[in-house]
Amino acid sequence: MKVRVDREKCQGHNRCYMICPEVYQVDDEGYAYVSNGEVPQDLREQARRGAEACPENAITVLAEAGASR
Ligand code: F3S
Repeated sequence: MKVRVDREKCQGHNRCYMICPEVYQVDDEGYAYVSNGEVPQDLREQARRGAEACPENAITVLAEAGASR
């Protein structure tokens, strides 16, 4: 599973970061980014929740290649 932050949509709410700081980082201006788009297995649920918490829908969760959905 991969996650991607759309920097154009991100408004710096930082909810993603509060829920899953292991995956989402915040730059000097308060906008989120992911340093490594590939999410480790044990952080998937947390990363997904972080994405869902974004009020701007700025985070895209990409399923694993070959995953069933
Ligand atoms: Fe940006 Fe959404 Fe996170 S607005 S800082 S991607 S919660």
